[in-house]
Amino acid sequence: MNKILVTGGLGFIGSHTVVELQNEGYQVVIIDNLSNSSEKVLDGITAITGKTPLFEKLDLREKADVEKFFKKHNDIKGVIHFAASKAVGESVQEPLLYYENNISTLVYILKELKKLPAASFIFSSSCTVYGQADELPITENAPVKMAESPYGNTKQIGEEIIADTCKVVPSLKAIALRYFNPIGAHESTEIGELPIGVPQNLVPFITQTAMGLRDELSVFGDDYPTPDGTCIRDYIHVVDLAKAHVVALGRLLKGENKSSYETFNLGTGKGSSVLEVVNSFERVSGKKLKYKIVGRREGDIISAYADTTKANDDLGWKTQLSLDNAMLSAWNWEQKVRS
Ligand code: WQD
Repeated sequence: MNKILVTGGLGFIGSHTVVELQNEGYQVVIIDNLSNSSEKVLDGITAITGKTPLFEKLDLREKADVEKFFKKHNDIKGVIHFAASKAVGESVQEPLLYYENNISTLVYILKELKKLPAASFIFSSSCTVYGQADELPITENAPVKMAESPYGNTKQIGEEIIADTCKVVPSLKAIALRYFNPIGAHESTEIGELPIGVPQNLVPFITQTAMGLRDELSVFGDDYPTPDGTCIRDYIHVVDLAKAHVVALGRLLKGENKSSYETFNLGTGKGSSVLEVVNSFERVSGKKLKYKIVGRREGDIISAYADTTKANDDLGWKTQLSLDNAMLSAWNWEQKVRS
């Protein structure tokens, strides 16, 4: 069985990906520093798949620990790298924390992969690299724009570091997956999103409001040039997203990649407005959501949704799950977590 390292594997997208990797028969070892997750997530993964992945609590900023890890696990065939700080607002306040945690750690991992006979590397990137794209839907050829936050900049820089390294390390091949907006939870409600503190993202704020943890949802602006005035995003079910990682990893392990570094947009190809997401929640939950329209949030783009042609045709992957399905899974998870 190919041994795969999943960094940040106890996080939201990481844990869902570990489930799909184990379902596919891979041996998984997780590194996580538990700064934004909990070891209890291992129980959820085990409950779903019947297998408990190897887990090592480790902070990837400790270069010597990273070297020691790879000496011990020198049979790793691939890495899916989720571990990073990802709060846009926080990154503006703490840029150095983001550059250290998101960039130095990437360099340390790539330096270890360079020593292996062969390595496949999947990088967790984001549609944030496009900023407000000039053309919609957004293809992988859309220009990467000046980052609007240090977080977004770390994704852009990360992609460049990987591309430059793949050019000169023949044994390394990589794919950057540019996520749109991941939402939802595994149908088992054994794992899901566990935002710490006040959720920054729309969907956990909706489910926490419905649970009575938040008074009401603030809708950040309804005066945008969109059909209902609220911003549009491409909300992708986290299980669909997780499956895309397994497909991308398989592409590299089987040598089906067309170049040593590739990028793919991962979205549904459909844009949904904030109010459409609220309506979806009310439809699937049967609950009326309390919300108010407030001013725009600094830094929000108007509209982003993926052109999925390359992922569908080249990667051979497309989303299967609907927005309603994702919203219901998020609601079921929220109720489970609070029960
Ligand atoms: C979605 C829409 C808000 C909260 C960010 C990062 C991206 C990725 C996903 C890490 C926007 C509106 C939100 C609320 C609202 N993160 N909203 N009230 O900003 O598209 O993407 O998270 O990888 O990189 O940029 O996601 O969920 O914060 O916002 O009205 O309480 O919901 O204005 O239009 P976003 P989001």
